[in-house]
Amino acid sequence: MTLDPLFDPITIGANPVRNRIFMAPLTRARADADGIQQGFVAEYYAQRAAAGLILSEATGISRVGLGWPNAPGLWNDAQVEAWKPIVEAVHAQGGHFYAQLWHMGRLSHPATSGETPVSPSAIAAPGQAHTPDGKKDYVVPHTLTKSEIEATLEDYVRAARNARTAGFDGVQIHGANGYLIDEFLKDSTNHRDDEYGGSPENRVRFLKQVVEAVTGEVGADRTAVRLSPSGEVKGAIDSRPERVFGEAARMLSGRGLSFLELREPRADGTFNQSDEPPMSPLIRQLYDGVLVLNGEYDAAEGAKTIAEGKADAISYGRPFIGNPDLVARFRHGWPLQDADQETWYSNGREGYIDYPVYGGERTADAA
Ligand SMILES: Cc1cc2nc3c(=O)[nH]c(=O)nc-3n(C[C@H](O)[C@H](O)[C@H](O)COP(=O)(O)O)c2cc1C
Repeated sequence: MTLDPLFDPITIGANPVRNRIFMAPLTRARADADGIQQGFVAEYYAQRAAAGLILSEATGISRVGLGWPNAPGLWNDAQVEAWKPIVEAVHAQGGHFYAQLWHMGRLSHPATSGETPVSPSAIAAPGQAHTPDGKKDYVVPHTLTKSEIEATLEDYVRAARNARTAGFDGVQIHGANGYLIDEFLKDSTNHRDDEYGGSPENRVRFLKQVVEAVTGEVGADRTAVRLSPSGEVKGAIDSRPERVFGEAARMLSGRGLSFLELREPRADGTFNQSDEPPMSPLIRQLYDGVLVLNGEYDAAEGAKTIAEGKADAISYGRPFIGNPDLVARFRHGWPLQDADQETWYSNGREGYIDYPVYGGERTADAA
């Protein structure tokens, strides 16, 4: 099987990019407690700039929306200034870079954000959150009122504007993984009886409004969306995902968005598991734009998936942690280095910028 399909250039919204090997968003928790990135983050992303497109780690749009200790934000000027040299470092290597815009909804925690989390309905997530004081039970979130929903849309707009000010080529709206937008979409977490709850159309409404608000600010060709239609994350699951995600795919079509990315777990997945059939074949039919698939892909399966027309590009998460030169390794068939899980979220350089390129040379643009 040839790997050539991975190396075909593709146009992503406003940007022609050099391959279809995208870096999936990866929270690495190297910011300070105020969501301001540390200087060495530039080196990490620049090392990986041979990816066709880098999706940044999830980045908070507001204080209430960011409950992951040491994750970055994009709601104030200090955060924007800290991102600027990081984006510049990626561009200097010829890479393209989107910021993933994140509101954690009920998965935020007062011990981290100092605020009561918000969600479509007042239902606590099962399990525990990472906080600066260790693991703590998730709390019952405050139910968003309509005026608070309006204010949240403004937070998305400000973060999208800030992302462009920082130099990012575009933004990805994080609609996946049990966070705020996913909580609106799925019927286990959305029990509302107003126009944001009940029918699939109503549950898609918040996503639609976020997309309209963000595209109004930065343009559709610089706006992407990430969804996780199948399986359960932290209690967020839908009883009939083909209905609500079919509706979402139709709603996202015809807007000239940059791309739609789907994270799909597998039954034998090593990160998340789900026995549910993947939603991507249905969404491929309903969505008219560039489709990016993610989850447990290696080079051969990624190339095959593109060759068969099931996706236009593949995003790789964990492989990019241990292999800054993943694109070159794919191209030359070099072996991959496993990433050490102990340092996924540790707040330092170790396990972050010290993974060597194959053969020991650091050549982020060797591909
Ligand atoms: C350390 C780590 C951090 C992650 N952070 C994010 C994130 O910030 N935003 C997001 O949408 N997904 C996040 N994910 C999920 C990945 O983007 C991806 O969906 C998952 O790793 C499966 O892809 P893979 O098999 O290629 O690793 C994270 C995964 C890992 C392992």
